[in-house]
Amino acid sequence: MYPASDLFFGLGYAMAQDRLFQMDFYRHVAQGRLSEWFTNLPLGNGIRLVQMDMLLTCFELEARTRAGLEEIPDRERILLERFAAAQAAGKEPAELEYHEVVTEGGEKVFRYIKAIPMAQLCLQCHGTDIFLETQVNIQELYPEDQATGFAVGDIRGAFSVRRPL
Ligand code: HEC
Repeated sequence: MYPASDLFFGLGYAMAQDRLFQMDFYRHVAQGRLSEWFTNLPLGNGIRLVQMDMLLTCFELEARTRAGLEEIPDRERILLERFAAAQAAGKEPAELEYHEVVTEGGEKVFRYIKAIPMAQLCLQCHGTDIFLETQVNIQELYPEDQATGFAVGDIRGAFSVRRPL
């Protein structure tokens, strides 16, 4: 019997490898943004998707995460730059990943990082040719968004996992 944390670690690892879409899906769940994808679906018991989104928005998970953005370790920055260079050299962006076991303060730590490539679907909001209605919605909901002008295969960011062994 493995502790639950090990199971979740394994699940996260498998998802990062094979299930990029699911990870992005759960990220949208955490940000309270599922209705952007699925509109205001009824969820049963009189509850609709936008209500769930609003509740999740209250947790401010994104603002908290963004605060941590300033603190991206140099190591991850370097890896992202390497991913970008590998992609520019013609490597398939979906295959860009890296893992290692390092010793931090006497403790062994497993680290895994995987690039997030832009797919055709993503360009609806992150591309150059965005429907006016979508543009208006994004501007209203995310006035600080600057994530446009991407093409298929561009690296949009990375999933990074760190776990003490
Ligand atoms: C319906 C519009 C829409 C679609 C489709 C979309 N995104 Fe986004 N995405 C956004 C917006 C808006 C933001 C910025 C939110 C903000 O500024 O807080 C964002 C942010 C991100 C971020 C950065 C995290 C952040 O909050 O800044 C990543 C990474 C990302 N998107 C990846 C993707 C990928 C990969 C796809 C396709 C699988 C995708 N997005 C599809 C609208 C969209």
